[in-house]
Amino acid sequence: MASTSPRNILLLNGPNLNLLGTREPEIYGAATLDDVLVLARDTAAKHQLQLQDLQSNHEGVLIDAIHAAAGTAAGIIINPGAFTHTSVAIADALAGVALPTIEVHISNVHKRESFRHHSYVSPVASAIIIGAGINGYRLAVEQLAEILQQG
Ligand code: DQA
Repeated sequence: MASTSPRNILLLNGPNLNLLGTREPEIYGAATLDDVLVLARDTAAKHQLQLQDLQSNHEGVLIDAIHAAAGTAAGIIINPGAFTHTSVAIADALAGVALPTIEVHISNVHKRESFRHHSYVSPVASAIIIGAGINGYRLAVEQLAEILQQG
């Protein structure tokens, strides 16, 4: 029987994204993490999705949240911050729970230092949105909604 209750999706933001708004505004813009959350939540609501979110500067906390999502969320949107370029463990966690996952980067990492060009997360992501500013989070919610609708 089809469920009428809204489905949950999980938005994870990794290290230093709590500093959005003041952190290197020439790269990341002036919007704050709260602005991101309002945008993502409003977009989710338009698709009858309920967005839960977590920002953490700690790799293990993000991994625990990914594991917990297996029982509580239909999909994950993640901006892993610098862990993108270092964390096999986050990639393994995402592969382990096998939920549809959208990877987001505010900046165009490919225009930046070469160490930002490799992502451990991309091979386990359903889609990757890079360089669209915070609008990337809106696009990520739209894409996840599309994936979930297709079932
Ligand atoms: C980022 C890009 C990463 O290289 C960086 O370490 C971040 C933010 C982005 O959103 O553009 O913290 O993920």
